Amino acid sequence: MPDQPIPKDAAYQIINDELMLDGNPRLNLASFVTTWMEPECDKLIMSSLNKNYVDMDEYPVTTELQNRCVNMIARLFHAPIGEDDTAVGVGTVGSSEAIMLAGLAFKKKWQEKRKSQGKTYHNPNIVTGSNVQVCWEKFARYFEVDLKVVNLTEDCYVMDPVKAVEMVDENTICVAAILGSTMTGEFEDVKLLNELLTKKNKETGWNTPIHVDAASGGFVAPFLYPDLEWDFRLPLVKSINVSGHKYGLVYAGVGWVVWRAKEDLPDDLVFHINYLGSDQPTFTLNFSKGKNVFTC
Ligand SMILES: Cc1ncc(COP(=O)(O)O)c(C=O)c1O
Repeated sequence: MPDQPIPKDAAYQIINDELMLDGNPRLNLASFVTTWMEPECDKLIMSSLNKNYVDMDEYPVTTELQNRCVNMIARLFHAPIGEDDTAVGVGTVGSSEAIMLAGLAFKKKWQEKRKSQGKTYHNPNIVTGSNVQVCWEKFARYFEVDLKVVNLTEDCYVMDPVKAVEMVDENTICVAAILGSTMTGEFEDVKLLNELLTKKNKETGWNTPIHVDAASGGFVAPFLYPDLEWDFRLPLVKSINVSGHKYGLVYAGVGWVVWRAKEDLPDDLVFHINYLGSDQPTFTLNFSKGKNVFTC
């Protein structure tokens, strides 16, 4: 901390000049091209910048907008809900937070089941391809879940569903399939995975579910390949994450996680907080949060 204060315009100038050493976002063709938005979006973001999104009583319309996004996305992904039903899901900072939440829900469900059967519940694992994005490794390390990885081969750059299902054991909390492998964009065969896993579940009684990491494919597949079955049309798919900022025109980061049904999100992961006015159910990793819900 400096001993003496400095004038605010001098402080601004110093920080602004230092930031000039960053790259110019408009020249950045990496980082998923999330560097430009329509001016109307900029205006909406700027006019909401001072809202702390977690204070839902104070900002109920923001909450309503988030809920509308969740409802639209769940329906886009064919969640089996009626016209007037509310979908189960939440807006997140990006797919990484969404994946942490989905992973936690699977871990909790698996632990509850194991406890009720009087079995050990200390060695959960997730089966996935070695092409998973780093946030899955992060989830595994932070939340103490083993990643059982299906290696890619010279002629297959995505997870082979046959090998994945072979790796599933009684401690597998879910198989994570990727719709849009980060490196190549290739979709994994979720339909075949669902078929093979259904068969294995019948033989073993394990009921291992599927999560689809649709970070980049979730807003592409429904429009380009509407007949491709990768989402809640497949019964074992219990949750899906998607990013809003993977194809440009949306600043990072915004994402969502949606669950197939209420029972797929264990109750005790939902916090009911009421110190800001009324009962607020929240399921996010953070409490305070800047408002990015408009960027959808
Ligand atoms: C398949 C996949 N999953 C998850 C992520 C993480 O997404 P986010 O940057 O929205 O946290 C990415 C980002 O590259 C991705 O490609």
